[in-house]
Amino acid sequence: MPMWIASRCPTGGDEAALFLSNAAPTGYMGADFCNIRPGDTVAVWGCGGVGLMAQKSAFLMGAGRVIAIDRLPERLAMARDHVGAEVLDYTKVDSVPEALKEMTYGRGPDACIDAVGMEAHGTGLGHAYDLVKQQLFAHTDRATALREAAVACRKGGVLSVLGVYGVVDKFPMGVIMNKGLTLRTAQQHGQAYLPRLLEHAQEGELDPTFLATHRMSLEDAPRGYEMFKTKQDGCLRAVFTP
Ligand SMILES: NC(=O)c1ccc[n+]([C@@H]2O[C@H](COP(=O)([O-])OP(=O)(O)OC[C@H]3O[C@@H](n4cnc5c(N)ncnc54)[C@H](O)[C@@H]3O)[C@@H](O)[C@H]2O)c1
Repeated sequence: MPMWIASRCPTGGDEAALFLSNAAPTGYMGADFCNIRPGDTVAVWGCGGVGLMAQKSAFLMGAGRVIAIDRLPERLAMARDHVGAEVLDYTKVDSVPEALKEMTYGRGPDACIDAVGMEAHGTGLGHAYDLVKQQLFAHTDRATALREAAVACRKGGVLSVLGVYGVVDKFPMGVIMNKGLTLRTAQQHGQAYLPRLLEHAQEGELDPTFLATHRMSLEDAPRGYEMFKTKQDGCLRAVFTP
């Protein structure tokens, strides 16, 4: 990590700087895509590193409310305690779009960010359909979060897709068209966002060090990666020190 970057992260030092090249620019870009106006409500599917950073960035950009959606209690707790988001456990409701509609007085969130991607879990028929088709090699992606985000978003709102996808079946293009949603997506533009992220870090407005749930030696990296992959022991990100 270049010294000049770490030296501009007074609250988190090297570790804060480390995440400015990973989850932070992705989440920040996802919030930036949403053209947030003061007081907007932003819903974020996924409370991994990317989702949590999108939630934090949405507040930085003026959102009045951020609603974080996941099923893992330790991640929802992070969204609540470290970000200040309202949380929604998707396994506890019949329909996420309906729950969001209720939480937003019938309107739907102003912007919806998908920080889940093609490996979404789910509870409903749509997820079962994806699983069966995946087993039959008939299509590749489990797109529950993406579909829900499109359906939940208010008319004229923004659908910001950070999750990685290949081929998506049952993509609700009609919903996007008829509601006039703006669809934004990209692989993160790390270099473009780094100067703004450094400014936020320097001002003490963005400290992503809470993402580092595990610290290990470099020799333990295979174990750390396995924990990260399987989300064991609440692992969100493991940091390895040589
Ligand atoms: N666009 C980019 O440049 C870029 C960069 C980095 C990562 N990504 C992608 O962003 C996505 C998230 O990355 P991450 O590191 O945070 O992943 P992660 O696996 O740590 O987090 C994903 C979270 O989504 C939750 N989830 C699963 N199904 C859900 C559903 N139906 N509704 C709500 N939440 C659900 C999981 O429980 C998990 O907490 C991945 O697809 C990753 O490949 C994109």
